[in-house]
Amino acid sequence: MVKRQLPHPAEILELMQFKKPELNAKKRRLDSALTIYDLRKIAKRRTPASAFDYTDGAAEEEISIARARQAFEDVEFHPSILKDASQIDTTASIHGGTSALPFGIAPTGFTRLMQTEGEVAGAGAAAAAGIPFSLSTLGTTSIEDVKATNP
Ligand SMILES: Cc1cc2nc3c(=O)[nH]c(=O)nc-3n(C[C@H](O)[C@H](O)[C@H](O)COP(=O)(O)O)c2cc1C
Repeated sequence: MVKRQLPHPAEILELMQFKKPELNAKKRRLDSALTIYDLRKIAKRRTPASAFDYTDGAAEEEISIARARQAFEDVEFHPSILKDASQIDTTASIHGGTSALPFGIAPTGFTRLMQTEGEVAGAGAAAAAGIPFSLSTLGTTSIEDVKATNP
């Protein structure tokens, strides 16, 4: 006869994945976003329409943004099982400097129209990720303040 084995409570708890309640409402909202489209939905609910539409829109007939999105969606992962992935190099050379990832943050005019920290938040995120940040000539933070965030 097979002896029935009962799982240890600690093992069950691990599988149940109870989440600690998050008291910070902003963090709770952002943690629930899995994709850029989820972030867009959150932004749309919380931003005045004119600021949202300016930020969400693209140039003219929005032909190039549709092509850019399609190009990104056409990228396919080819899983390669049991391959050593410990030595991955994602660095790229951008305008003669080294970037940790093969992209940077492009300039956006009136950045603080959408979010109060604006360029300082973007430049800080770029510094943390080791990628370039560009300040628009129509920026809403001075060159000095951006440089203080991310020299
Ligand atoms: C809200 C918004 C504002 C922008 N403002 C500027 C700007 O002031 N100067 C500029 O050169 N490009 C501006 N752009 C263009 C971006 O820098 C970038 O070239 C464009 O978004 C395409 O890059 P992406 O596919 O990574 O978004 C703006 C784009 C957006 C969406």
